Amino acid sequence: MTGWPDRQDLRGWTALLDERGELGTVTTRISPERDVAAVLEHCDGNRAVWFTDVDDSPFPLVGNTVHHREHLALAVGCPVAETAERFGAVLGATRPCRTVAADDAPILAHRLAADEPLHALPLTLQHDEDAGRYITSGLVVAKDPESDRVNLSINRLLVAGGRELRALVLPGRLRRILDSAERREQALQVAIVIGVDPLLTMASQSPADATIDDFEVASALRAEPLPVVRPAHLPVPVPADAQILLECRFRPGERAPEGPFGEYPRTYGPGGPAPVLDVEAGWHRDDAVGQTILSGGREHFLVGGIPREARLLAALRRALPNVAAVRLTEGGSCRMHAVVGLRSPRQGDAVTASMATFRAVPLVKLVTVVDDDVDVFRDEEVEWAVATRMQADRDLLVVPNARGSSLDPSAGEDNSTAKMGIDATIPRGGAARHGRITVTPSDEAALRGYLAEAGAAP
Ligand SMILES: Cc1cc2nc3c(=O)[nH]c(=O)nc-3n(C[C@H](O)[C@H](O)[C@H](O)COP(=O)(O)O)c2cc1C
Repeated sequence: MTGWPDRQDLRGWTALLDERGELGTVTTRISPERDVAAVLEHCDGNRAVWFTDVDDSPFPLVGNTVHHREHLALAVGCPVAETAERFGAVLGATRPCRTVAADDAPILAHRLAADEPLHALPLTLQHDEDAGRYITSGLVVAKDPESDRVNLSINRLLVAGGRELRALVLPGRLRRILDSAERREQALQVAIVIGVDPLLTMASQSPADATIDDFEVASALRAEPLPVVRPAHLPVPVPADAQILLECRFRPGERAPEGPFGEYPRTYGPGGPAPVLDVEAGWHRDDAVGQTILSGGREHFLVGGIPREARLLAALRRALPNVAAVRLTEGGSCRMHAVVGLRSPRQGDAVTASMATFRAVPLVKLVTVVDDDVDVFRDEEVEWAVATRMQADRDLLVVPNARGSSLDPSAGEDNSTAKMGIDATIPRGGAARHGRITVTPSDEAALRGYLAEAGAAP
């Protein structure tokens, strides 16, 4: 049961958030330079915000459309603890999209000004030291020449003036596609799609595997196949119900300064020479709404986190038969810290789980392995397991000089990092000493009465 079967696009999703009391509206005119981000940062973890009147733009803007783990479970239509599993399952069982004619595609309803396609868009400057206004939620749609399948990625895109964008393209599938085009001296054509629902955003974070069609991942997660349209001048389809489309072309081999920009570790990602692309045309639907993802906010963490959890779960299951649960924690930006729950762990399982995690998700620096009586989704329980079941001289694994992230400010100059595994499972043979304290009331029915009198939920 998804809760939003009739209109699985951004407006349908925000209508659902509104029904749940999780959407605020700001009607007072607001600047997209820092003020929108300041509101979103304040509301992160608590509500999405719709801005109806953004300076210099005819379009409204929405942000924080995913601000809790529960939202991705709701979008997928499953319990929170099963979201990663469900995402992983569709990677192996994708579903074709439904192609619609250009005349029936809302996204092609109106053309953006041919001379200045970016000018009217509500694009934010987020953090104090960011290099400028960025497209922060755009899905870059590229055809993978290895397989002719569609790759989606979110890349921060600096608006460098006029029609020019500059993209941070870290190692991954888009980088491979771009490198391959540049080797052939070809100008890679891509679409940038702004304003999509959480299933499409999550599908953009699928593994960098050339055989996967990321639209078909989104299609399989939905109640109905994803409607796509093939615009006349593009080699890729785009979601017919998305809000804004930019038709773009990379300048082969060209690099220009981009960054700094506030990143997922909640520190600034350094600037550097970045690929340059030109916006050749733009389109939008009737009543289009812009979308911004607060970089370093819950939405950034979670939409990237669940697909990584799916990859982690699959890798751990290959290594161990007794994996009960995994989580990449919000405190570690859903990238750097993992918790793994094991059923009846045997000697050595915690080390195996840690090593398999480092391998499956290279950004992870800390793995805490717990027994399955610990709820991996509750930080306090995980910390309690560390406090009561772990001894540092016995249960700590440190792996020096591993590969780290260029965005981690604590990584070495060559992006090297140390990895840490904590075995917070009950020591073998120690079960008796680790029994949890319990309180049993003399009469359950009486307890419910006392709780009602005390005004406490039963
Ligand atoms: C909000 C958000 C912003 C992101 N920004 C970037 C970015 O600027 N550069 C980048 O390489 N990856 C970025 N990522 C991660 C990629 O989108 C993600 O790893 C994707 O799966 C990579 O795609 P690829 O391997 O298909 O190229 C971002 C992810 C999210 C959720």
